[in-house]
Amino acid sequence: MSNRPTILYLSQEDIISVGGASSDMYVTAVQRALELHAKRDFVQPLKPYLRVDAENGHIADRIIAMPAYVGGEAPVSGLKWIGSKHDNPSKRGMERASGLVILNDPVSNYPIAVLEASLISGMRTAAVTVLGARHLAKKGFQQVACMGCGVIARMQLTSLLEQFPHITTIHLYDLNAEAAQRLGNDLRERFNHVEIVIAPDAESAVRKGEVVVTSTVVDKPYLPFEWLQKGAFVSNISIMDVHKDVFLLADKVIVDDWDQSNREKKVINQLVEEGKFSREKLHAELGEILIGRRAGRESDDEIILLNPMGMAVEDIASAQEIYQKAVVENKGVRLPL
Ligand SMILES: NC(=O)c1ccc[n+]([C@@H]2O[C@H](COP(=O)([O-])OP(=O)(O)OC[C@H]3O[C@@H](n4cnc5c(N)ncnc54)[C@H](O)[C@@H]3O)[C@@H](O)[C@H]2O)c1
Repeated sequence: MSNRPTILYLSQEDIISVGGASSDMYVTAVQRALELHAKRDFVQPLKPYLRVDAENGHIADRIIAMPAYVGGEAPVSGLKWIGSKHDNPSKRGMERASGLVILNDPVSNYPIAVLEASLISGMRTAAVTVLGARHLAKKGFQQVACMGCGVIARMQLTSLLEQFPHITTIHLYDLNAEAAQRLGNDLRERFNHVEIVIAPDAESAVRKGEVVVTSTVVDKPYLPFEWLQKGAFVSNISIMDVHKDVFLLADKVIVDDWDQSNREKKVINQLVEEGKFSREKLHAELGEILIGRRAGRESDDEIILLNPMGMAVEDIASAQEIYQKAVVENKGVRLPL
C-alpha cells in the first residue's frame, strides 16, 4: 500500500498553541456534544473503571476508558483513557490525572490522532459548568464558591471568569490551605478586578455562593442543603460532595446522562437503590435544556443542582476541534502507524 496511514500526535504544548488553554473552543465543542446527546446522535458505551483495589482503594485511584461516537455534520469516534492517583500531587509532585485521547476516522475506523488528555478533560469539564451556569444560574450572578483548589478547580474558575465578566468575588476553600492560597494568588494575578476570599471552612464559602462548584476528591458528602442560599446553582463536578438531601430538596436536579449517573454507588445511584430518586424525579439531562426541550432556570429563587459525571462525547468533540485547528496550523508530530 502506498498510502501508509499516519497519526498526528499533539502534546499539551501543541494543544495550547492552537488555543487549548482558553475556554471558548471547549464551550463551542461541548455545546455541540450536548446538543447531539439530546438528539441521540451519538454512541457512548458505559465507561469501565479499572481499579486495582476496588474494595479498599481511594475513590480517585483508577484508570477510566471513555469511548464515544459523536455524530452531526462532521462525525468522529474516539476514546479517552485517563489514569488518576489521589496522591500524585502530594507524593509524586504530579497532577492527579493524565491520559490520552485517541481520535478515529469514522469511515475507516482507523486512528487519526493521539492527544494529551488532561488539559482537554479539565477544560471540557469547565465548559460543562459554563453551559450549566448560562442556563441554570441566576442572571448576572456575582459570587462564586469553589470547594477544592486543585487542577480542576483552576480550570473551572478561569473558564467561569473568562465567560462571565460580571463575577465580582470568588470564595475558595481547600482542606489544604496552601492549595487555596496558591490558586487565589494565581487568580488575583490574572483577573485583578476580582476579589478572592480564602474561606476558613467549607460552610462559609458555600453560603456565599450564587454559583457553587465542587472539585475535591472526597468520597463522603459534607455539603448539606441548608448551606445553599436561595437561587444557588451547584455544579457538582466531584460528584460525592453533596448530601442526599440536596438531591431530594433542590427545585431541579439535572445530570449530563442518566445512565452514566445512576451507577458506581454514586450518591444518585444510592438514592435510586433506596427508592428515593428516579429518572422521573430528574428534571432533565443538560443537553435537553440546551436544545430548549426542557426549561432551564425559571425563577430567581430556585435551587438547582447539576450533577455531571463527565461524558466521552465532550472529550471527543473537544479533541476533534483541537485536531482540526492543529491540521490547519500544521502543529504536532506525524507518526507512521
Ligand atoms: N465530573 C467530571 O466530568 C469530572 C472531570 C474531571 C475531574 N473531575 C473530578 O474533579 C475532582 C478534582 O480533580 P483535581 O484533578 O483537581 O484533583 P486535585 O487532587 O488536583 O485537587 C483536589 C483538591 O481538593 C482538596 N480537597 C480534598 N478533600 C477536600 C474537602 N473535603 N474539602 C475541600 N477540599 C478538599 C485537596 O486538598 C486538593 O487540593 C476529582 O474528584 C475528579 O474526579 C470530575
